[in-house]
Amino acid sequence: MAPRSFDNTFRGMTKRQLEDAAGADLRHHLGRKIFASRDPRFASAPSFSFGGRLHNELDTLASNRSFFCKTGTHRCQDGETLLDDLRRRDDKSQKKLREQGRQWKAVPGPGSYRIPRFMGDIDRAFEVSVGKNSAPWRTPSWQLDSTSLRPVFYHTIGGVGHARQEHEGKLRVPTPRNLTPGPGHYFKDSDGCVSMFSDYMRLSKRAFSAAATGTSLPKSWYNIQADLPVPLPPPLHPGELRPCTPDDFAPLFPASLIEQEVSSERYLEIPAEVREVLNLWRPTPLRRASRWEKLLGLPGNVKIFYKYEGGSPSGSHKTNTAVPQVYYNKLAGTKKITTETGAGQWGSALAWSGGQFDLPIEVYQVKVSYEQKPYRKAFIEACGAEIFPSPSTKTAVGSKALEEDPTCPGSLGIAISEAIEACVSSEQAKYALGSVLSHVLMHQTVIGQEAIEQLAGFGEYPDVVVGCTGGGSNFAGIAFPFLGEKLRSEAAKPEIRFLAVEPAACPSLTRGAYAYDFGDTAKLTPLLKAHTLGSGFMPPSVHSGGLRYHAMAPLISHLKELGAIEAQAVQQTAAFDAGSSFFRAEGILPAPEATHAIEGALHEAKAAAAAGKPRVILFNMCGHGHFDMFAWEKYAKGQIEDFVFPEEDLKEALTHVPGLNGVNWPRP
Ligand SMILES: Cc1ncc(COP(=O)(O)O)c(C=O)c1O
Repeated sequence: MAPRSFDNTFRGMTKRQLEDAAGADLRHHLGRKIFASRDPRFASAPSFSFGGRLHNELDTLASNRSFFCKTGTHRCQDGETLLDDLRRRDDKSQKKLREQGRQWKAVPGPGSYRIPRFMGDIDRAFEVSVGKNSAPWRTPSWQLDSTSLRPVFYHTIGGVGHARQEHEGKLRVPTPRNLTPGPGHYFKDSDGCVSMFSDYMRLSKRAFSAAATGTSLPKSWYNIQADLPVPLPPPLHPGELRPCTPDDFAPLFPASLIEQEVSSERYLEIPAEVREVLNLWRPTPLRRASRWEKLLGLPGNVKIFYKYEGGSPSGSHKTNTAVPQVYYNKLAGTKKITTETGAGQWGSALAWSGGQFDLPIEVYQVKVSYEQKPYRKAFIEACGAEIFPSPSTKTAVGSKALEEDPTCPGSLGIAISEAIEACVSSEQAKYALGSVLSHVLMHQTVIGQEAIEQLAGFGEYPDVVVGCTGGGSNFAGIAFPFLGEKLRSEAAKPEIRFLAVEPAACPSLTRGAYAYDFGDTAKLTPLLKAHTLGSGFMPPSVHSGGLRYHAMAPLISHLKELGAIEAQAVQQTAAFDAGSSFFRAEGILPAPEATHAIEGALHEAKAAAAAGKPRVILFNMCGHGHFDMFAWEKYAKGQIEDFVFPEEDLKEALTHVPGLNGVNWPRP
């Protein structure tokens, strides 16, 4: 038997993965190094008695694996000598140990072997195939196809064994029937797992070049409010300037979503009906950008991973929250949902989700994006929803904006006002928001929860998590589950950082004021405490329509104020350059919004390479850019321009922010 050595620190695994089949918490293994070559406990299969087994079975086990003996199996706790110099079973030494009663036995009884919960991704190409039945007249033992000169046998569990047809050919998914503490060559390349079976503990280096999909959609959303060291400042009633009650939100949202908005429970279960729809494209892939790393000339210890959300029906992460929002509205008896959309991603996501639960959707799209991306309109209409350019003449708010400036390009602030007005003026209609609110951010946490498991499959844990921020939902989705681990002191790397990347043309987090402000232009929404550029802010017509929002999600702003996350503003030419090189290497054309995250990741990678430091970078590739060809065409022609929001305009916009004019909670 070739000596095996591996170094497994268990880093990057979740508590769930660090539980064995009996549910025991194995987190005390964290950070511990195991060298199989030095510690024979980890080079052997665990010990079991084989009560009731036939002699020929035990003989076979003993001959194949020197750590089995005929009266039970050894696990050498104190490094007892079991092997001779040639690593064969040392019978003399084993006899002596038995006489001294120093062999270690566990007797779970036949058939009660513990089965690992987390197997990682099983690579079918590397499955062990079973060859011929070597002793058909006895309890079956199967000879494995092997290049080794020494035949390796496989034993089934239980007295009778499997029927011939069950075990001829390749072994498939592990079941209690085909798992065995026998030779231990099965699924030997599974990505990572802690179990009683030492063979499953290996982290596969080979997996580094592949996509990890070996996880499943989480059963719950993660609510970071449960782990905040300081509670989130409450939303204020726009007229009375007191904290809002659930009744204040009732005209806009169904009760279940309002409950989620204020919930302090750590995990909220995802309804089965929602999971069924999300399962169409989830779990989404997490990949290592190895070709991009190569193109950038990064050293091997600077690794970039990305989670790809573009495979959803609408092409971005937005569908993760659109589906549950429509579902809860349907349950509450809502007859129509109104909403706004910037780039069109959110409108498309809600329009498609409306079709899943047969609920009409009415979308107000920021005019500049409506004109730049005609196929978003076509997509939304193909879903059976209605779409209007904002400002529109359908609402009083829109008409007023057009009166003031007939060429008004629109803004998310105006579109939100229009959607809210349309909602409150029609019966049994409700409103849905694609970002900013806490329940929306929570719905996105499926991204980060999957990423934790998938990265563990690669044997990694990030040093920094990066996402672009418009209202903050995709960044929250990938970052919050990791940040929650950090806040609970459970992170495998306690120094893990979180980087929000925003456009320099709309720099709410980096240059905005942290103060109570309205969420829309017409001042219809409650006041939210967040980084804001002023609700009257008219962002320049940059191509990342989804990032042109005057404020940030209160949760993201709060965490920024607490020093838990960092923010960076980037220019759109740099973002497009980074997105273009990523596209060439990795084959995914990013949405202009996503190029900001790519630029942020690139910045981190270059900084680490320059400092000669290892770094694992994880970023959210939140959407594809197939509807954004107008922008990519401009990029190809060299017509993308940078824009920095002028200081004087910012000062002027901030003068109207209520939070900077004495509105605060608790009252000053
Ligand atoms: C692809 C894409 N990314 C990012 C965003 C920004 O939103 P958020 O910050 O809520 O993720 C949008 C918004 O429309 C988007 O369409």
